[in-house]
Amino acid sequence: MKDNFISIADLSADEIHQTLELAVEIKAKLKAGEDYKPLAGKTMAMIFAKPSARTRISFETGIQKLGGYALYLSPDDISIGKREAVKDIAQVISRYNEAIMARLFSHEHMLELAEYASIPVINGLTDYNHPCQVMGDILTVKEHRKNLDDLKVVFVGDGNNVVNSWLNLAAKIPMNFVLTGPDGYDPDEKTLTSARESGISNIEIIHDPVQAMKDADVVYTDVWASMGQEEESVKRAAEFKDYQLNSELMSHSKPTALVMHCLPAHRGDEISDEVIDGANSIVFDQAENRMHIQNAIMVQLMS
Ligand code: CP
Ligand code: NVA
Repeated sequence: MKDNFISIADLSADEIHQTLELAVEIKAKLKAGEDYKPLAGKTMAMIFAKPSARTRISFETGIQKLGGYALYLSPDDISIGKREAVKDIAQVISRYNEAIMARLFSHEHMLELAEYASIPVINGLTDYNHPCQVMGDILTVKEHRKNLDDLKVVFVGDGNNVVNSWLNLAAKIPMNFVLTGPDGYDPDEKTLTSARESGISNIEIIHDPVQAMKDADVVYTDVWASMGQEEESVKRAAEFKDYQLNSELMSHSKPTALVMHCLPAHRGDEISDEVIDGANSIVFDQAENRMHIQNAIMVQLMS
C-alpha cells in the first residue's frame, strides 16, 4: 500500500486483494460487535468541494467505529484553491491531523494535496476518478459471486469518473469490461489505453446497448450528468435516452446479472424503478461496502 490512496492505478493486484481481504475482516469484526479500535486517537480532515451523502457518512461513521474522529469541512469552509493555495492547506492540515480525505473537482488539486501533505491523502472523488467507490464495488461483486473469475461488467451510460476507476481496476484484475453509451462520451483516453495495454482484460466500447448487454454478469449505471455538469443535464438527457437501464434492456443480459449503481440515482432517467428496486439489485450492499473498504484503507494508511 502506498502512502496515499489516489488511484487504483497506483496499487498492485496483490495490494488490491489485500485491501479487499482486510475489508472483509474488519466488516466481520464490526458485525460481531468486537471492540476493535485501531484508529484510537487518530483524526482525519475531510475536505468536500462537492456535495456528498455516502462518502461523508461512510467515512465519518467508519472512522468513529474504529476509534478515530473525522472533521467535515464543507465547500464553504476551505474553498480549496480559491481562498488559499492547495499546497498551503495541505501543509496546514498535516500539522493537525493524521490523514486527509478530499472530494474535489480538479484531479490536479488532489495530486498537489498529496504532494504537499506529509500525511496520507485519500481521494473521495474528483472529476477524473472515484477509487473508493470502485474498490467497494469490486468487494460487493466478490461477495455476491464468491469469486471474480470470468467476470463481465457492462457499464451503461457516461464514460465518467466511475468508469475511469473501473478501467484502472481492469488494468490490474482480469475482466471483460464494456462501456455502452452515446458517441462522444468516452472515458479518459490515456486511462482507456492503459487498461487495454495491460493485456489482462478485454475492454470494449459498444454503442449498441442491446449488443453490449450480452452475457453481462454485472450491469452498472450512474448519473448522465455528474456533479459539475449540471448545466449539460438537458442535453445529456436527450443524448442518453436510449441508455436507460430498464427491464427491457436487462432482458438482454444474463438473468442472474447483478445491478449496480454508485448512487445517488436519478430514478426514471438512467435507471428505472423496477430495476433499481428489483431482485438483482445490489445497490445498497454496494453503498454499505463503501464504509467497509474505506475502513480497510484508513487502517492501512493510518494505523
Ligand atoms: N457514491 C457516492 O460517492 O455517493 P456520494 O456522492 O453521496 O458521496
Ligand atoms: N459520476 C458521479 C458519481 C457520484 C458518486 C458524479 O461525479 O457526480
